Amino acid sequence: MFAPEVVVAGMLRRVPLFSVLSDAELHDLASVGTTRRLRKDELIFLQGDPGQHFFIILEGKVKIFLQDPRGREVILVVLGREDFFGEMSLLDGKARSASAQAILETRVYSIAHEEFYRFLARAPSVPLKMLRQLSERLRKADEVIENLALLSVKGRLARLLADWGLKDGRALGGRTVFRLPMPKTQIAQMLGTSRETVSRMMTELRDEGFLSLEGNTVRVDGIDRLRQIP
Ligand code: CMP
Repeated sequence: MFAPEVVVAGMLRRVPLFSVLSDAELHDLASVGTTRRLRKDELIFLQGDPGQHFFIILEGKVKIFLQDPRGREVILVVLGREDFFGEMSLLDGKARSASAQAILETRVYSIAHEEFYRFLARAPSVPLKMLRQLSERLRKADEVIENLALLSVKGRLARLLADWGLKDGRALGGRTVFRLPMPKTQIAQMLGTSRETVSRMMTELRDEGFLSLEGNTVRVDGIDRLRQIP
């Protein structure tokens, strides 16, 4: 039998943030945090909560979102296996900037801020990698602002579908085929619109010959054409 730390160190080794750590550093990291299992839909924390832990997703998916007083939700990002979150409170000492909820059965590795700070001082490659990923997230956030300001809902949906097609699609008979990774309600929350509008726009895209739909399976004719919809 392996000690739990050895198992956790093995999982942390796959996390890009920790990819250049030595075995000793990985074991060190695996000994300072705890693994937590989360049920589907379990809330991890709310925007405004004091932040005390940094999280790495070992398995599953976590939605990062904001909610207005009427309960309307906007999803900032859906993070998956080997992503991290909770770094903003760690870095600026302020409250949580957004809420986090597991959207599938999920397993996270959680490290108290003080422990992670101490670890960062011992492993200088990690803060640099973290900065690179934060810069990537800022680029994505800029893209979201640009899309919100400049594109129609149909254009925003088309870009999201094109991104999924590029990331997860497989080529089949000259088309790109992929499954919608989330229900339409969540897609609507990512685009700042309603579920009904998403369904309507999807039908329009189909009728205009950009894609075909069968249940959750999407077949796209040309990813580049989708990206050009204003
Ligand atoms: P923190 O503020 O501690 O808690 C909420 C977390 O959501 C935040 O840290 C980040 O890890 C994450 N987060 C907030 N905004 C974004 C965003 N635009 N893109 C990706 N992750 C985000």
